[in-house]
Amino acid sequence: MTAQIVPVLPQTLALAAEILREGGLVAMPTETVYGLACDASNPDAVARLYEAKGRPHFNPLIAHVAAMDMAKQEAVLSEEAETVARHFWPGPLTLVLPRAATGSVCDLARAGLDTIGIRYPRHPAAQGLIAAFGQPVVAPSANRSGHVSPTRAQHVMEDLGDRIDLIIDGGPCATGIESSIVSFAGETPTLLRTGGIETAALNAAVGGRLALHTDDSIVAPGQLKSHYAPDAALRLNAEAPQEGEAWLGFGSSVHTGLNLSPNGDLAEAATKLFAMLRALDARFDRIAVAPIPNEGLGEAINDRLARAAHRD
Ligand code: TXA
Ligand code: MG
Repeated sequence: MTAQIVPVLPQTLALAAEILREGGLVAMPTETVYGLACDASNPDAVARLYEAKGRPHFNPLIAHVAAMDMAKQEAVLSEEAETVARHFWPGPLTLVLPRAATGSVCDLARAGLDTIGIRYPRHPAAQGLIAAFGQPVVAPSANRSGHVSPTRAQHVMEDLGDRIDLIIDGGPCATGIESSIVSFAGETPTLLRTGGIETAALNAAVGGRLALHTDDSIVAPGQLKSHYAPDAALRLNAEAPQEGEAWLGFGSSVHTGLNLSPNGDLAEAATKLFAMLRALDARFDRIAVAPIPNEGLGEAINDRLARAAHRD
């Protein structure tokens, strides 16, 4: 069975919510990347989700909510965490928080941890689906584990079409890279993953106290070095393509190939990154990538590129 791709409409969101109630798997658009949603409280559905993605069970999932109250059912927000949440939600920020006693997210989805990752996405289709379902959904990126995240419905179809129940097509994702993850589970707010919100803005929101997670222990297990990997070999910070290499440029570039943003706009580059990696990966074995300035969203872009280039 191949999943049906449906447009965003009240009746398709109602159908999707019904599939979630029955323990099914629904790909939904969010502003970052497409997520693979299932009922967060249903361990059988979560087991199916891990299976479909080929994802290791020790890697916890993010619970997605569509209201601040829903977040508070699941997690304990300190005053500072709530201030940050109100500042950036709905939007591309995930908070790791102590879980609440009232939480509905099953053990398997949390990988047994006593913390929980929560995100309130901005995309109206994600909000509409969660509201129609009435409960949090867990939603990892809707790609096979280790692959490049999907930013279009067609990417989900290619990776998971024969393993899931429905794909809601909300068009290309506006942000294009995953959410930033900040942990409020310890003493100091800590950035666990760079993402759709610039680090400087996050740091400002916590009065300059944001710690960067620098040691090698895996705090966010999805931060394994070779994540987001295409099949093709990537050569980063390249000046020019060599014989046999495809070219992925940034800013003004004289080389033939694709360009993340001819004007050197980092937000545009983030939006296009995964789609262009997928497109080149389908046709080439080697890809040379131009240098990307390591500022603003460039930090998250370079993080994803480094992981895509890494070989174990
Ligand atoms: O933008 C996004 O965050 C997308 C969209 C679909 O919302 N989702 C996403 O999910 O990127 P996923 O599963 O691909 O990445 C979630 C990351 C993983 O690295 C996981 O280890 C980390 O969040 N994570 C989840 N819960 C955690 C927790 N309690 N403590 C630490 N890390 C956690
Ligand atoms: Mg992922």
